[in-house]
Amino acid sequence: MAVHSALRGRGVGTALLRRLESLLVGHRYRSLSLLTSASSHTYQPTRAFWEARGFMPILALDNLWETDVAMVYTKPLPGRAGTHSRSGRETPGNVGHAGGRGGSR
Ligand SMILES: CC(C)(COP(=O)(O)OP(=O)(O)OC[C@H]1O[C@@H](n2cnc3c(N)ncnc32)[C@H](O)[C@@H]1OP(=O)(O)O)[C@@H](O)C(=O)NCCC(=O)NCCS
Repeated sequence: MAVHSALRGRGVGTALLRRLESLLVGHRYRSLSLLTSASSHTYQPTRAFWEARGFMPILALDNLWETDVAMVYTKPLPGRAGTHSRSGRETPGNVGHAGGRGGSR
């Protein structure tokens, strides 16, 4: 996800994320994951953005990109009433993906 630099800090990214999460919950997705830079100073505000919105860093990938370590962030999504199968068990979760490093590096 990326917001044009002239429009950042005005709530656009938060609104996009809220809308995406709402759509995913409606389609019974159970979590949302993304990749971003684990170490680049440039991406410190980006990491803070995701962490402030409930994403947890769960896995560092040091062989994915040549010049940087990638961090996988994930966030559990709330369940929705009516997401149980007839057997009474919850249906298997889907996993959504968002993010990417975005922008220029
Ligand atoms: C990260 C990004 C998508 C957030 O979108 P946004 O519209 O600027 O975010 P909002 O206005 O909804 O929220 C502002 C929050 O983002 C944070 N933020 C992160 N990067 C920012 C930036 N470059 N400019 C302004 N705020 C930024 C602010 O600190 C603020 O945090 P807080 O509300 O927790 O205090 C956007 O800043 C961006 O496109 N950054 C560059 C590309 C990028 O890193 N994309 C993500 C790849 S994983």
